Amino acid sequence: MKIKNICCIGAGYVGGPTMAVIAQKCPEINVTVVDINEKRIEAWNDKDVENIPVYEPGLSKVIAETRDRNLFFSTDIDSAIDKADMVFISVNTPTKTYGIGKGMAADLKYIELCARQIARVSKSDKIVVEKSTLPVRTAEALKNILDNTGNGVNYQILSNPEFLAEGTAVEDLLNPDRVLIGGDVESPQGKEAMQALVDVYAHWVDKSRILTTSVWSSELSKLTANAFLAQRVSSINAMSELCEKTGADVNEVAKAVGMDSRIGPKFLKASVGFGGSCFQKDILNLVYIAKSFGLNEVADYWEQVIIINDHQKRRFAANVVKTLFNTVSGKKIAFLGWAFKKDTNDTRESAAIYVADYLLNEQAEIVIYDPKVKAEQIYADLDYLNSRPCEENRRCVTVANNSYTAGKDAHAILVLTEWDEFKTLNWEKIYNDMLKPAFLFDGRRLLERKIKEKIGFEFYAIGS
Ligand code: UDX
Ligand code: ADP
Repeated sequence: MKIKNICCIGAGYVGGPTMAVIAQKCPEINVTVVDINEKRIEAWNDKDVENIPVYEPGLSKVIAETRDRNLFFSTDIDSAIDKADMVFISVNTPTKTYGIGKGMAADLKYIELCARQIARVSKSDKIVVEKSTLPVRTAEALKNILDNTGNGVNYQILSNPEFLAEGTAVEDLLNPDRVLIGGDVESPQGKEAMQALVDVYAHWVDKSRILTTSVWSSELSKLTANAFLAQRVSSINAMSELCEKTGADVNEVAKAVGMDSRIGPKFLKASVGFGGSCFQKDILNLVYIAKSFGLNEVADYWEQVIIINDHQKRRFAANVVKTLFNTVSGKKIAFLGWAFKKDTNDTRESAAIYVADYLLNEQAEIVIYDPKVKAEQIYADLDYLNSRPCEENRRCVTVANNSYTAGKDAHAILVLTEWDEFKTLNWEKIYNDMLKPAFLFDGRRLLERKIKEKIGFEFYAIGS
């Protein structure tokens, strides 16, 4: 079976880049990305490809090449589903904020809405691919809705978890470590559907890197991979606190540990805490699933990864207050960076949000600069926490359009995202424009201690 038309529901950080690369590599397939968010679709269709809603290095170029050739962005969801042989579901699955599983389980209402829409619209057989990060057994729920509410057409459900990391999405999509495709391995129809998706990726990915498994293995592999990665970050962050007490340096420890080929060097960078839309959500899912099977020890084990991460964000903020003579009330604190990592404009679960919230509770005045995050997003992130009235967030937080304005007259500067441009700032100028003593807190181990101390900064870095 040859795929000719793909529809992707959800034009976000996963759907957008993934479909752009599929369109680039498979010129004979028409790819339509649909979303209920009209503003988002408008931005994807903006004449100037620099204005697309997702910032990813290299993505604008792929969009310029493919858009309106065989890649289309639209709000007409029904007609895109109708035409497609293969429908990717790439909508958001945030952690539930209400009811059973609140704060832990994934909220699947957007997935369910998609399934019902597919069932309502489809007049021909479809392969439905779950791309969103989902708790185990979502495919089964999808199948149940499709088979029982549809127009008698046949559906094959595949799980094809996303492993791209934001900030390197295009590179990750072009050269993936592996592509995972889960499906009904027992039936010929299931195998055929899996092969159809294998053939899409085989346009540019070596077959040895395309793994096919059962749906459940595929779903659980995604959660496990993210849990392992997050666990490494929490492990090194736990050591960073011990380093600060003992006089060891966490970068030196990480280097020594990472050179053990059994451990490896990646994901050992101490930080103010991991963020992003996946790590916390996936571990919470894992914890929820383990608990629901009565596996309390397993649940507690993984929950600790999140406990350490929350502790890391809190202790970073608490250290700022302690160092600034136990009060930040009325003091101007500059934040460099708001995104959860460099090279993305995504702020979901960014450590900066929680550090800001802590300092606002201590009555600090915060000025924020991030090269790619818009002011409206920063206020939305703070308002979402519901810690104080929205007006107060606007009164106590201002957004600057460069690092120098942010740092002017500040008592302290906090580096919260590892943007490259922060490395090459004129730090002497920044120092001169600050109140003294000028405190500099490096939450990303981005800056050279010696140089900054020579300028005159009181310098604090995670893990040393
Ligand atoms: C992650 C997975 O890496 C990816 O495979 C999956 O598809 C989605 O979730 P992402 O959240 O985009 O990707 O970014 P990632 O690079 O994993 O970083 C997550 C967080 O951990 C960031 O806040 C990052 O700054 C932090 N981190 C990462 C560290 O603090 N130290 C490290 O050594 C690595
Ligand atoms: P991710 O990082 O998983 O891509 P995003 O939040 O960036 O998450 O993107 C998910 C997108 O899915 C959003 O643009 C949202 O508007 C869209 N979406 C959610 N539910 C639906 C739906 N039922 N139909 C179409 N689009 C949807």
